Amino acid sequence: QETDKGTYPYYMLKEIDEQPNVMRKLASLYTQESGRPNVNQALINTMKQADRIYIVGAGTSYHAGLVGKKLFEKLTHVPTEVHVASEFAYENPLLSDNPFFIFLSQSGETADSREVLVNVNAHDYKSLTITNVENSTLFREATYTMLLHAGPEISVASTKAYTAQIGVEAILAKALGEAKQQVIAEEFDIRQQLGLVATGMQAIIDEKEMIEDLAKKYFVPTSKAFYIGRGIDQTVSLESALKLKEISYVQAEGFASGELKHGTIALIEDGTPVVGIITQKRTANLTRSNLQETMSRGAKTFTIVRNGLAQEGDTIIIPDVDEMITPLLSVVPAQLIAYYTSLNKGLDVDRPRNLAKSVTVE
Ligand code: G6P
Repeated sequence: QETDKGTYPYYMLKEIDEQPNVMRKLASLYTQESGRPNVNQALINTMKQADRIYIVGAGTSYHAGLVGKKLFEKLTHVPTEVHVASEFAYENPLLSDNPFFIFLSQSGETADSREVLVNVNAHDYKSLTITNVENSTLFREATYTMLLHAGPEISVASTKAYTAQIGVEAILAKALGEAKQQVIAEEFDIRQQLGLVATGMQAIIDEKEMIEDLAKKYFVPTSKAFYIGRGIDQTVSLESALKLKEISYVQAEGFASGELKHGTIALIEDGTPVVGIITQKRTANLTRSNLQETMSRGAKTFTIVRNGLAQEGDTIIIPDVDEMITPLLSVVPAQLIAYYTSLNKGLDVDRPRNLAKSVTVE
């Protein structure tokens, strides 16, 4: 049964392990064998009219939206904003003339996101909900829907929904970019890339023992940790830190690596773990020197590096995929670090204190 833990001690590990299959499923459902995207034409026609995309989400879904912004702007050249649902609902951000809204929600039930959608509908704006749950509230109330097809996510800490959301955003950005005749979108082979991602995820998952050792040695004994990166890697640093906070109660922060020295570096002490996420050629050396800065103040540094940029001494090497979708791989070691830190602290991985799977109050 889909909701059965089987031989897994916790749902979270099962859900991390399911990610390669979710990627393959998205490729087969949302792309054709030719590589062309298989996305609702009416949705694409509506999105083509938009002069700006507004992505709305909470928690991990918000973090998936931050990656989505990069994808939409690169592949479609449509300016894209990402908003935390609870802020958007009451701050009324100034909108463009022809906005299009994308709601990201694993459960489709988050009250803050729904509050925004109610307003969007009151203004007759068009919207898309990307969710894992068919017939959920946000599914029913949006103009268009795309399903994540990730299967039930039971662990409170979201894993496969995050990667599925990014997968769907990449497919949608490719489809819209093609419809807008953007060369970069035409050349982006999303079907092939999702196949590479699936294999790459499996390779990382196969290294779980090495990652557990790292978690035991450096993250279990610490009360604080940092993830740093630039650009798209910075967005993954936020999600990586959130995973660690949620289930291991380590005070973890994700930072733009260049911003660290403007204040936060004061927190570095002897042995503080700092993880650098390095997947982008243009900024790799910059992040490496920011890591160096923390190291010279006593930090114990690690790297999660894309293979093509790897150097001697790197900690976790992730396989090469297109730089636009590296979050699909760079987040997996961070999910595993969080999982094994929580497990080895003897905590209830799937049911962390004070948290709910779906927050239905504002
Ligand atoms: C809760 C969950 C998070 C999730 C967030 C948004 O806080 O604990 O894991 O990211 O809600 O949920 P949604 O279902 O809208 O994606």
